[in-house]
Amino acid sequence: MKIAFVGKGGSGKTTLSSLFIRHLAATGAPVVAIDADINQHLATALGLSEDEAAALPAMGERLRLIKDYLRGSNPRIASAETMIKTTPPGEGSRLLRVRENNPVYDACARPVELDGDVVRLMVTGSFTDADLGVACYHSKTGAVELCLNHLVDGRDEYVVVDMTAGSDSFASGMFTRFDITFLVAEPTRKGVSVYRQYKEYARDFGIVLKVVGNKVQGQDDIDFLRAEVGDDLLVTVGHSDWVRSMEKGRPPRFEFLEDANRRSLRVLQVAADTTYDLRDWERYMRQMVHFHLRNATSWGNERTGADLAAQIDPGFVLREGLVAAV
Ligand SMILES: Nc1ncnc2c1ncn2[C@@H]1O[C@H](COP(=O)(O)OP(=O)(O)OP(=O)(O)O)[C@@H](O)[C@H]1O
Ligand SMILES: [Mg+2]
Repeated sequence: MKIAFVGKGGSGKTTLSSLFIRHLAATGAPVVAIDADINQHLATALGLSEDEAAALPAMGERLRLIKDYLRGSNPRIASAETMIKTTPPGEGSRLLRVRENNPVYDACARPVELDGDVVRLMVTGSFTDADLGVACYHSKTGAVELCLNHLVDGRDEYVVVDMTAGSDSFASGMFTRFDITFLVAEPTRKGVSVYRQYKEYARDFGIVLKVVGNKVQGQDDIDFLRAEVGDDLLVTVGHSDWVRSMEKGRPPRFEFLEDANRRSLRVLQVAADTTYDLRDWERYMRQMVHFHLRNATSWGNERTGADLAAQIDPGFVLREGLVAAV
């Protein structure tokens, strides 16, 4: 299953994604962790040093390899040049699985050990000022979108993505790629306004959106969030001394995370596992096609000089157990 953490800058997306990833890893589940945020901090939140984090391969710089691999022998996609971030898989495409080795993981993923359990970490790469607002910015998260669109993931295996809630996430179809989206909100008017904006975008796409209150200090904070977001409030997390120790570069073993915060992480997992029952591969494909056509007409056809609508394979639906093209 695919899970996103979004929210306002500084709300705690990276912290809560990293705790959730640690929690999942501790259950023994296979996990792919992806940092798709403008501020790339997931690696350090998972315990890597700044140097180790800086040495991680950037997906955004390996787009060519990703496209060539995923394109496989799909006759509808003539070249990597005509493959854009929303190009959907079809007959002949290569697909990705959570539990496998493949050239995309070889190039872009690195193992991270968390108290004896190992997860795969992938990062889009840091965003320079020059990237913001131009094509490169989207091509970085575009690498993630392509991978998600070619992924056949099942129950009990997790892809966790740390991303922004900025309007950029809505320029592509990325926000529709998740079984559940956790919107991290501090109990403030700003935190809640990001929720409202997200909810508005999400409305037409059947997005399962749940609010995780963060840095919550007491009943008044909980009451505020409940009044503002109603039943979308799933759970709250308080200030964590464990997190503070980690920030000081002295991460305790995960088993020493505060009980209340561990319980909150279990609530997140149950919510995620429950939404898996709503998985609808056909809708997933329809949305992929919808965003592909939108991107094709707004910039893709012109940029590539091709009719990108022709890339759509009308009979193709992703599903578990689909046999990969060789
Ligand atoms: N529950 C918590 N307990 C203690 N500290 C926390 C908690 N949540 C977040 N923090 C701290 O708040 C700061 C911001 O958190 P974090 O980096 O996770 O936010 P973010 O939403 O990912 O920010 P950005 O938008 O910059 O990526 C960090 O220093 C983090 O350690
Ligand atoms: Mg962050």
